[in-house]
Amino acid sequence: MPETIENVAIKVSVNGKPRSLNVEPRMLLVEFLREDCDLTGTHVGCDTTYCGACTVLMNGLAVKSCTMFAVQADGSEITTVEGLEKDGQLHPIQKAFGDSYGLQCGYCTPGLMLSTYQMLSENPDPDEKEIRHAIAGNTCRCTGYMNVFKAIRQAGRNMKGA
Ligand code: FES
Ligand code: FES
Repeated sequence: MPETIENVAIKVSVNGKPRSLNVEPRMLLVEFLREDCDLTGTHVGCDTTYCGACTVLMNGLAVKSCTMFAVQADGSEITTVEGLEKDGQLHPIQKAFGDSYGLQCGYCTPGLMLSTYQMLSENPDPDEKEIRHAIAGNTCRCTGYMNVFKAIRQAGRNMKGA
């Protein structure tokens, strides 16, 4: 008889909503978000901690959700890209990426926006070096990054005015 592995009960707040679920210990956080929570704005680009498409916030810090097990998020507050919008209004970071053409295919964009969120929460007026450092874990294959930098600087201005 193959040995069975017990599911584990976890409680997580996802975008402000409490979720209690039994999950397999091997379930990745990104699978939990996409498959159990139906939050498909968190993307999978590599599954090897390289691309950053899976970036979410855990207790306000950007983490790569393909590199964590869901059980490691037990007791934490997770924010995905879907959690940035409030009452039908885009978050200033989302608005800035749109207004500054900071995306093309958009596959990397949720992760970039959440890395931006963490940086701007700590440093509302970053210089280019600080921006490069903050998004070093987020790969974009389309934009060449120049409009991403513009979007992030605009997001900082938006948030100061917000
Ligand atoms: S899918 Fe997680 S880093 Fe690429
Ligand atoms: S906009 Fe296509 S990967 Fe960044």
